[in-house]
Amino acid sequence: MSDILIHSEAGVTTITLNRVEKKNSITTAMYSAMADALLQAQEDTAVRAVVIQGHATVFSAGNDIGDFLNNPPGGEDSPVFRFMLAISNFPKPLVAAVCGPAVGIGTTLLLHCDLVYAGDNAAFSMPFVNLGLCPELASSLLVPQMLGYHRAAEALLLGEPFMAEAALEVGLVNRIVPPTEANAVAQAQARKLATKPISAQVETKRLMKKGQASLVAQQISDEGASFGRMLSEPAAREAFGAFMEKRKPDFSKV
Ligand code: COA
Repeated sequence: MSDILIHSEAGVTTITLNRVEKKNSITTAMYSAMADALLQAQEDTAVRAVVIQGHATVFSAGNDIGDFLNNPPGGEDSPVFRFMLAISNFPKPLVAAVCGPAVGIGTTLLLHCDLVYAGDNAAFSMPFVNLGLCPELASSLLVPQMLGYHRAAEALLLGEPFMAEAALEVGLVNRIVPPTEANAVAQAQARKLATKPISAQVETKRLMKKGQASLVAQQISDEGASFGRMLSEPAAREAFGAFMEKRKPDFSKV
């Protein structure tokens, strides 16, 4: 069974993270599959909305750490960058269903979705600092805008999880639902969107986002340069080594 499932029906393409045994952590192959699916959905006139979903118990544990060490992102044509550009520029409505842990890019990708439905078990975290890294996917721009600077600093500097209620309060999610219903609610909303005129949706989304589209693109690029450099520095090497060895990291020397 594939780690990414793609299904199109009734004008909606659904992208399902399907690697539950590894907490839906995302490999380079999965980034490629998701980037391709988004680009295809963008081109296909029969597709009028996209859903990104995981499992009722887990949305995504973020980057697959082992795969990340073996295949560090090489530049703007790497699979993770292709995915980040595809999702941040996606012109049609994008709906997410998120339950359980949403770590790293599992949370930051939601900043680029239009509607987000969360299970009451959703736990969002952006532990980039704990991994010796910096934020990605324009989260260093969009999280302070959404949460306010001090709450953003708490989320990004401490990297501690926050739960569905807090995400609802700051506007990261639209509604909290039972975890077993989240995917169905997202699907129903996407199908509702798919009945509306696509040209009006695309234009409305473009106008809402146009004020900072170039800032977002620049931030993704700046963050990417730092993230790529920091991946090979001692703090990240210690954090990733500790994760692979299932021990606590020791940052006392970095
Ligand atoms: N990369 C690779 N493998 C991962 C992973 C990741 N990001 N997250 C989880 N896994 C693997 C674990 O190694 C474990 O594999 P194993 O069964 O072969 O030992 C399996 O998925 C289950 O994970 P586990 O940690 O036992 O599940 P949990 O329910 O106790 O905790 C999380 C779930 C998501 C809170 C926890 O796995 C976690 O913190 N993961 C790392 C998140 C992270 O730092 N991501 C990087 C962001 S850039």
